[in-house]
Amino acid sequence: MSVSADRRRAAGILLRVEGGAFASRLLASVSGPGVRARVMAVLRWRRSLDEAINRCLKKSAIEAELRIILRLALAEIVEIGVPAPVAGDAAVRLVRQMGKARAAGLVNAVIRRAPGWWAKIMEDAPPDLKFSHPEWIWNRWKENFGGEAAEAAMREAQKPADLWAWFLEGAPDLEGLVAHPWLDGAFSAPARELLPVLRAGDAYAMDPSSQLIAHLVAKVHPSAGGRVLDLCAAPGGKAARIANFNPGLDVVAADLSLARLGLGRSLFERAGVAAAVVSDAGSPAFAVESFDLVLLDAPCSGSGTFRRHPELKDRLRPEDIKGRAELQGRLISSALRLVAPGGTLLYSTCSIEPEENERHFRRIPEAFEVLPPGEYLSESVPWIETDSGGGRLIPASGWDGFSFQLLRKK
Ligand SMILES: C[S@@+](CC[C@H](N)C(=O)[O-])C[C@H]1O[C@@H](n2cnc3c(N)ncnc32)[C@H](O)[C@@H]1O
Repeated sequence: MSVSADRRRAAGILLRVEGGAFASRLLASVSGPGVRARVMAVLRWRRSLDEAINRCLKKSAIEAELRIILRLALAEIVEIGVPAPVAGDAAVRLVRQMGKARAAGLVNAVIRRAPGWWAKIMEDAPPDLKFSHPEWIWNRWKENFGGEAAEAAMREAQKPADLWAWFLEGAPDLEGLVAHPWLDGAFSAPARELLPVLRAGDAYAMDPSSQLIAHLVAKVHPSAGGRVLDLCAAPGGKAARIANFNPGLDVVAADLSLARLGLGRSLFERAGVAAAVVSDAGSPAFAVESFDLVLLDAPCSGSGTFRRHPELKDRLRPEDIKGRAELQGRLISSALRLVAPGGTLLYSTCSIEPEENERHFRRIPEAFEVLPPGEYLSESVPWIETDSGGGRLIPASGWDGFSFQLLRKK
């Protein structure tokens, strides 16, 4: 694809994301790095880009298409290293192609001045604006984790995420293969090497934080023949990794969505998942006390995954966290009923918000006790303890943010 075709395609995707679509889904079928780099740069830096653009405008209300073209051109200059005149000319061509030739002068003027404003924002704006996060997220993270950790988490979220994967039958001999620093079995390799293996179904792309779940299961329930239920399993990565990493366990994958469960069908077969079942985790289709380990990888805000899904930062509202927490509370109650005596509930989310994690476990039913994760994690895992005795990984350059809690039924 030519550079100008990349730009057109990127602008089209950004418009759809603005309308609510998920970039990762739209980018899944795009080949070549030019479109991805542009889309991700704009989504990652959306707030800071808008701030620099608005400082060049008399009124900030401009048409959505025009704003996207301006964001794209400015991101090309400040993030991708395209020379300003080249990015500016391309933006003018794009507005003309979109039938908005009358905006050409405005685009030229903004693209001449916005890089200067950008430099100023990067120099002296408060951390939320500098790292392009909404102010409410910065305030909440500062309160929950302290200013330094909150700023580090925002900084990390602005960096492109590496591609990590696990292999279904052991790591092949790929050029540039790198093992993860603290998680056995997680590997990265240059996309040209790894993508063909992923496409052939011999590997599965998954962040190391999520892969950690299979290790926890192995340590908590090492005995062969145990029954494991993943109550919110789709699209299936964790259930498959658990089955593949713990071949002695009988793993059942359940999810509310038949369509999403279908995405995991061939992976489940290859990884040795025993069954895939459509079931509402709020009223599950399973007998009480029938599993040795129940994984509830609950639907959540995804606040630990802003590196991979940058549009979430700008889409998320404080009330969404409250709504997710209410749903999770209901799902936890029914998940606990499925745990057999001596068995374990493993609760996890890719959120780092206390309301979606430790707050659920401030009080636990008398029949359960908290299992300290430290006993089941290798020393190299950089987790921190939550105030309910669970664990959390703060997002960093080699992993997403993630939270987990282990409860054992007495
Ligand atoms: C965080 S994702 C799970 C990711 C999955 N464990 C994996 O590793 O691929 C949450 C899942 O919960 C499912 N879900 C949402 N509400 C549910 C419910 N009431 N019962 C069962 N599944 C539900 C969604 O369809 C979604 O697939």
